[in-house]
Amino acid sequence: MAAGSAGTATAFAQAVYVVAALLFVLSLAGLARPTTARRGVTLGIVGMVLALGATVLLAAERSQRPVGVTLGLALAALVLGGAVGAWRARRVAMTQLPQLIAILHSSVGLAAVAVGYNSFLTSRLAGGPPDDAVHRVEVFLGVLVGAVTLTGSVVAYLKLAARMPSAPLVLPRRNTLNLAAVVVSLGLLPWFLAADGAAALAPLLLMTVVALALGAHLVAAIGGGDMPVVVSMLNSYSGWAAAAAGFMLGNDLLIVTGALVGASGAILSYLMCRAMNRSFVSVVLGGFGAPTAGPSGTGTGTGTGTGTGTGTVAGAGTGAGQHREVQVEDVATMLRGARSVVVTPGYGMAVAQAQYPVAELVARLRARGTTVRFGVHPVAGRLPGHMNVLLAEAKVPYDIVLEMDEINDELAATDVVLVIGANDTVNPAAAEDPTSPIAGMPVLRVWEAGQVVVFKRSMAAGYAGVANPLFARENTAMLFGDAKEQVEKIVQAL
Ligand code: TAP
Repeated sequence: MAAGSAGTATAFAQAVYVVAALLFVLSLAGLARPTTARRGVTLGIVGMVLALGATVLLAAERSQRPVGVTLGLALAALVLGGAVGAWRARRVAMTQLPQLIAILHSSVGLAAVAVGYNSFLTSRLAGGPPDDAVHRVEVFLGVLVGAVTLTGSVVAYLKLAARMPSAPLVLPRRNTLNLAAVVVSLGLLPWFLAADGAAALAPLLLMTVVALALGAHLVAAIGGGDMPVVVSMLNSYSGWAAAAAGFMLGNDLLIVTGALVGASGAILSYLMCRAMNRSFVSVVLGGFGAPTAGPSGTGTGTGTGTGTGTGTVAGAGTGAGQHREVQVEDVATMLRGARSVVVTPGYGMAVAQAQYPVAELVARLRARGTTVRFGVHPVAGRLPGHMNVLLAEAKVPYDIVLEMDEINDELAATDVVLVIGANDTVNPAAAEDPTSPIAGMPVLRVWEAGQVVVFKRSMAAGYAGVANPLFARENTAMLFGDAKEQVEKIVQAL
């Protein structure tokens, strides 16, 4: 347990912290399944309210201020932070959540840096109690992790918000640069431990600058399809930064909570790497998605007119070929004759907010006796669980929403697959072309079905910027236009 005064409030707060920590663990367990997620959120809120109450009591006792004053200060910070949070959360579209999460992680990093400097300045410079080597190591590591998280999250935000190119920044000898930054940072630790008073500020400041540059470079070097792992990795870093702040503040609950976030972020990053067939180390070392595979598969498609047509899939090697265009009535006819249908949603469904008409279409088909299921890729959309959240929002029954591994072997026996705004996650090049930048990424094998209809607005490539040969397959038809409008028209036609 961290150091603390032996007052009544401290003992009470420690007991409440144990209860809150248990509630946080139960909350995480609840969040693992859509059916128990609501309970998980409630448990988390109760845990956090208890934790805040206990922290106010503890802080009042430690600072020897009246509880009312401490509570007032905490409430002022809560109102300020809560107002900014509520303002951002109300304005943010579902498609902008990943960048919101990234920028929120940056504030955890900033907080860890601020707590580190505050802890150092109050103990070393302001005549506070002399600190020991363990405390100094805590300060140093807390600021290091916090600074890496801070700039890494800001760069991730800029990339996800398309305010800087998502392609990786490939500097010469980038891995040597990263290694040098780590070595220099850790090399400054003995100086920081040995220096006295204000002199110790120099190595701390130097390390902070190096760590800020390291965080920015680490994430700038990661590109394209690896961004989801980066968001989850930064989630993990922000947890470790919070745990480090917990050590510095002597707050056991912050250590436990930070470790929970750090560990769950690391596990999620590992699972996502597995889903994309990438090794964690290769993601961290970056460079994936560098423009070495020729031009990406951009091209044009027509979204208007009647009757079917053909066009050319422009782009690099694997994507070249003729595509076939169909219209709403053709798709409705296809669906009328289908016994089994699978819907594979992707980022475009989120952009178009097509989940409501999609749910309506599925309900209609099921009412006609058609077997309909969803196949959800683990990294479809822009954040983990993106599609599941949208489908739950549109009240699609959970039991027809299957994971990629559950649906893949069933696709060959499916009459029609509707690919709604998905692209990279259904790209056969990942499975068939070893030279493709996304080679080895497990994908939904939609091309094995009888008929495939791809809903998108043009022949443009998906997030990873890789051409998609699915569009030129014989059993694939393109339905161009906004996914929401097109699905609504199909519902009417049915
Ligand atoms: P993407 O490959 O991103 O493709 C989405 C497609 O939706 C685009 O080709 C786009 O084509 C289409 N689209 C956009 N707006 C549309 C609209 N209004 N109506 C109809 N179609 C529309 O999608 P995906 O298959 O879901 O793959 C996800 C990608 O994002 C992967 O590369 C993944 O690694 C990456 N990523 C995932 C995450 C997580 S955790 N899920 C986070 C960050 C990045 P048009 O422009 O032609 O319409």
